[in-house]
Amino acid sequence: MILTPSLVTGFPLIDQQHEQLFNIIDTLEIMASSDGSFRAVAEGTRKHLTPATGTVQPVVVRKVIERLMYYADIHFQYEESLMSYASPALTKLDGDQYEDFAKHVCLHHREHHSFSTTVTEYHKQVTSYCTLSPASIYVFVHHWVTEHIEKTDQAMCVWLRRSDAVAG
Ligand SMILES: [Fe+2]
Repeated sequence: MILTPSLVTGFPLIDQQHEQLFNIIDTLEIMASSDGSFRAVAEGTRKHLTPATGTVQPVVVRKVIERLMYYADIHFQYEESLMSYASPALTKLDGDQYEDFAKHVCLHHREHHSFSTTVTEYHKQVTSYCTLSPASIYVFVHHWVTEHIEKTDQAMCVWLRRSDAVAG
């Protein structure tokens, strides 16, 4: 997954954290295209593949989900802390504008929570030995991350820049 212009926020740490998530999405994509012709995955996923079918062992799926949960958690906490930090400066805006910011924060938290809930559900399934297709995880995560960055994170970054401008 490439950092295309619509995915660049211009906030270096946010962009770096997004790239960590993209790396995990790339791993899921490689796992999802398990046709026996995997290219080497740096973290050694390949040695856990069943050569005859190219299917991925549940333990590997679980490890990738755990990495995803770990990085998403750190990243969401970071973004949420930035919004909290921006809030006092934005109270200088008129009431309606501050209300819009508050609505954004609420929506943003809900989206993060919804992602975490789904990924936690995947984790529960894979730890109870249910077969979980890497393709279905990939489709969900790729779509969610793309939509969320392009719409919600970019909107947050507009608010963060405004808070810097208002604070002077
Ligand atoms: Fe976000």
